[in-house]
Amino acid sequence: MDVENAAALENRYALAERMAREGGAVAHQYFRDRGSLAIETKRDPQDVVSIADRGVEQLIRKAIAKEFPEDGVLGEEYGLEAGTSGFTWVIDPIDGTSAFLAGMPTWCVSIGLLHEGKAVVGVINAPCLDEHYAAAAGKGAFLNGERLLLTGAITPRNALTGIGANSEVSPQSVAAMVERLLMENGNFIRNGSGALMIAYVAAGRLAGYIEPSMHAWDCLAGYCLVVEAGGSHLPFPVEGKGLTGGAPVLAAGPGSLDALAKIAQFVEV
Ligand code: IPD
Ligand code: CA
Ligand code: CA
Repeated sequence: MDVENAAALENRYALAERMAREGGAVAHQYFRDRGSLAIETKRDPQDVVSIADRGVEQLIRKAIAKEFPEDGVLGEEYGLEAGTSGFTWVIDPIDGTSAFLAGMPTWCVSIGLLHEGKAVVGVINAPCLDEHYAAAAGKGAFLNGERLLLTGAITPRNALTGIGANSEVSPQSVAAMVERLLMENGNFIRNGSGALMIAYVAAGRLAGYIEPSMHAWDCLAGYCLVVEAGGSHLPFPVEGKGLTGGAPVLAAGPGSLDALAKIAQFVEV
């Protein structure tokens, strides 16, 4: 990245951090008042949304449009608006909406930024947990200001693996994945937010995270965090229609990539 782009990245990283915190604070207020939220369903009764998701995405989009009107924006609730600058923001205003609406604390605001096909910024704010994860390309990954560095000491055998599933994939494929993990003497956890569990991989809390199909807004911010912490992930197809569609997701610490690739059996890593 040249000098001009380095400044462009720095300014956008600052905005991502600010909007993840501001969005998190707004979402947290909705969370406290969740008894009054009207819950709507999308694809199926498990796929829910409320004004909290829409309000937070609008807030973030407005700030981006003001500071970087030439950037593209993809958000879960309002779709893709192409830009001309080469930067595209990828936003999940609330990841873990089911947990959020049921009164569980494991949800977050997730903001990623793509440049030349790569996630160059990833910020995840989890207000109920008082956790703020932030990373930018070449600048490291941080949790509440503390540097995250993965060592390779944890594996699917000595740590939990995050697993996710939604109604876009067959129950059999998910069951087979869980079975393979258990057969390898691993075990799984699912907290309702794939984005937050990928941040947990960056924090060395989980060996890795696997889910047969997620969207860019669920995983790209987390992917940046994992890479900057020293881990790796499956490529996400960000060209053309790939950016708005689903793709297999795997993020892992250095000691877990090969083992989880075998367990997930999506494609070659
Ligand atoms: C969902 C969560 C969940 C994952 C799903 C996602 P949402 O996002 O990340 O953990 O398993 O695939 O769709 O609907 O809460 O934003
Ligand atoms: Ca999501
Ligand atoms: Ca969401």
